Amino acid sequence: HSTWESLDGVATLLEDRFDEPSVLIVTDPFHALRSRLIAQEVGLTAYVSPTRTSPWGGGTQFKKSVKEAAGIALDIYETCPIIGSDSRVIGGSDWSAAAGSDIVVITSGKPRKPGMSRMDLIETNAKIVRGVAENIKQHAPNAVVIVVSNPLDEMTALTQIATGFPKERVIGQAGMLDTARFSHFVAETLAVPVASVQTLTLGSHGDTMVPVPSRCTVDGKPLSDLLPPEKIEELVVRTRNGGAEVVALLKTGSAYYAPSAAAARMAKAVIEDSGAVMPVCAWVDGEYGISGVYLGVEAELGKGGVRKVVETNLTDTEKAGLLEAAEAVRAKQADVQSL
Ligand code: LAC
Repeated sequence: HSTWESLDGVATLLEDRFDEPSVLIVTDPFHALRSRLIAQEVGLTAYVSPTRTSPWGGGTQFKKSVKEAAGIALDIYETCPIIGSDSRVIGGSDWSAAAGSDIVVITSGKPRKPGMSRMDLIETNAKIVRGVAENIKQHAPNAVVIVVSNPLDEMTALTQIATGFPKERVIGQAGMLDTARFSHFVAETLAVPVASVQTLTLGSHGDTMVPVPSRCTVDGKPLSDLLPPEKIEELVVRTRNGGAEVVALLKTGSAYYAPSAAAARMAKAVIEDSGAVMPVCAWVDGEYGISGVYLGVEAELGKGGVRKVVETNLTDTEKAGLLEAAEAVRAKQADVQSL
């Protein structure tokens, strides 16, 4: 219910009154109540009363403050006695807090909205991630970097370019999440404990994701012995769309807990120098006949990041899917150089 003139007014008001990123819902007075309810539903707080005279002739504005990292950190820190952890949790907006880090996890960037593909975020998030990467280079020059921002494969490539770090020290988190989703769907379908399920996803964290049914087992039995091909294909498709399914349900924001758990598992392997093999987005240099691209593959992780990419046997269809994914992300990763 706004005209371009009134949006100009909003922009001026934003500049005048808001010293931090904010979200506004602008509405005419007749829709004030409805917009207030919508705002409350998505967690916004009322900022100005509907009766206030505003440049667009009346309306309601809502503001969502950016949560201060220090506050979030303190809240998490205060959880430690309950979970029996002696970790230190520090938050802030000053990069010096990250100085000398062994591991940095980048989650910066905008999440998708319902109906968007991860690739729709590339230009916006490239600017954000490049800035973060440059700060990491300056403040934590020896860190292993785990990238979670989307579009994942491209933001991982961009982080390596902007930091100039050795390629094995920049890794993307996607395969752990996609594999967790695939395992969850299999366990739920067969009503078996998740611990009995092994699955694998390779390729991109996008449309060319390659769930690998030939590597999926339940209690050691091949998935193809337990489910008909069309059911397996249904789970493959659901896995490929796993992120979008969450986005559609949330309506605002994207998945949070499973990506966090996946990144934490990768960080654990690095910090413990464990050599654990897990699906990650890693620089591929000859494996599967593919070179010169960041791609979802299995890799052994240790203190320095990726120790080595581990190849697995794939069916012809799966191998073709991986090659297709490599070419798709290669083209986009070339684009991010200039973003
Ligand atoms: C997802 C986002 C985080 O797959 O990429 O949920």
